[in-house]
Amino acid sequence: MHGIILKTLQAFVVDTYGEDAWLTIQREADIEEKVYVPVTVYPDGDVYEIVRTAGELTDQSPRTVLSQYGKWVVPALLETYDLHIDDEWSGLELIANIQQFHTSLRTRDMTTLTTPRIRSERIGDHHVRITYDSDRKLCDVARGAIQGVAAQFDEELVAEEQTCMHEGDDACRFDIRRTSSATSASDTEATFQFGDPESTTEPASGGSDD
Ligand code: HEM
Repeated sequence: MHGIILKTLQAFVVDTYGEDAWLTIQREADIEEKVYVPVTVYPDGDVYEIVRTAGELTDQSPRTVLSQYGKWVVPALLETYDLHIDDEWSGLELIANIQQFHTSLRTRDMTTLTTPRIRSERIGDHHVRITYDSDRKLCDVARGAIQGVAAQFDEELVAEEQTCMHEGDDACRFDIRRTSSATSASDTEATFQFGDPESTTEPASGGSDD
């Protein structure tokens, strides 16, 4: 797993639940010795252990923690990877270009990693479809990130999760429609139809440690 994910996951836990929570999670998840830096690759298992322990500590499902992280991390990623993002893009356009910039982040920085299994299709002016089929099964991060983009760009996005790997489907498909541009950040949100991680207690789990 790309170090930026681990580094920002740690920052999310500290920011949201406090430094003490992070120290407890480190102890419980058996990762006390680790310092996460963006240019290193870490086992996927670290992510699952951190969100599992954070979920136990905060009485939430690991999938909910992943979604919260996905929402929280968008501004941090946009700042870090400023150069890969076109200033002219709206939130929906950013999502329409998700495949392109996820691939370029990998090929420039981390040539040894596999490409994230995330694709985007422009269906109409206000409609984009995302398909995600990585064995890591981190669609909860995607769900949260869509909310994070809506908040960051002051857009109202309605996301319908048509299929989900956690429900036994071959891929997770999100249909995202922009219903309006809001006037203030407090008005903005991404509404989800189907796929609320609170509705399941299935622990986050995924594939290989690459
Ligand atoms: C709606 C917006 C977004 C969605 C749905 C999304 C989705 C995802 C998902 C699902 C993963 C995990 C992929 C895997 O299985 O390994 C991921 C990883 C990642 N995302 Fe995003 N993301 C979004 C926005 C962003 C933004 C704005 C940035 C940076 C500008 C970004 C940078 C990254 C990076 C660096 C990784 C890890 C690199 C990798 O494993 O290839 N993402 N994203």
